[in-house]
Amino acid sequence: MDAFELIHGRSATGRVKADPLPRAVIEKLLAAGAQAPNHYKVRPWRFVVLTGAALGRLGDVMAASLKAKFPELAEENLAKERAKALRAPLIIAVAADLPAEPKVDRMENITAAAAACQNILLAAHAEGLGAIWRTGDTARDPEIKRFLGFAPEQELLAFIYIGYPDAPVEKKERPSFEDRTVWME
Ligand SMILES: Cc1cc2nc3c(=O)[nH]c(=O)nc-3n(C[C@H](O)[C@H](O)[C@H](O)COP(=O)(O)O)c2cc1C
Repeated sequence: MDAFELIHGRSATGRVKADPLPRAVIEKLLAAGAQAPNHYKVRPWRFVVLTGAALGRLGDVMAASLKAKFPELAEENLAKERAKALRAPLIIAVAADLPAEPKVDRMENITAAAAACQNILLAAHAEGLGAIWRTGDTARDPEIKRFLGFAPEQELLAFIYIGYPDAPVEKKERPSFEDRTVWME
């Protein structure tokens, strides 16, 4: 697939099958992530690959965290929260490293890790997979970061949910770049 076709043809989808992905495919996605540009060669992205029972454990932590915040919540709501982690057979959690030396800039690490996320989304599309980048309160939750092995100050940028599409993924017409662009000559 041509690069422009790939970029323009990608659409987020959360509607994926439960079928597991072969490890070789997951590794292809991670390798694509690791092609992102980054300053000072720090490779600031950290990937945590969640499959199988780990998804259930993530769901348990998400539900426990919600319960800690809202103790009065009914079990039904907690079950819904738990189920969120099971919406795809693969979640890649992506975080950005904190700068380890003074010359490294925090924002540059975050933007490089975000570029890795987009590479993963594009690679997933190239492989015929469905994917969606999600964050929400879960991504800012210290308990969830701890479960994933991230420090509280580390930015957890993405939960990329990935699987084989359950329904045809429609190509989107997105707004033009024009109202977001100024030309300076
Ligand atoms: C940083 C970031 C966080 C996002 N978080 C969520 C989220 O928590 N839930 C959600 O439904 N979509 C979220 N999205 C949006 C979807 O990933 C997706 O981009 C959006 O549905 C538009 O679809 P498109 O990517 O096909 O244009 C997020 C996107 C980004 C870049």
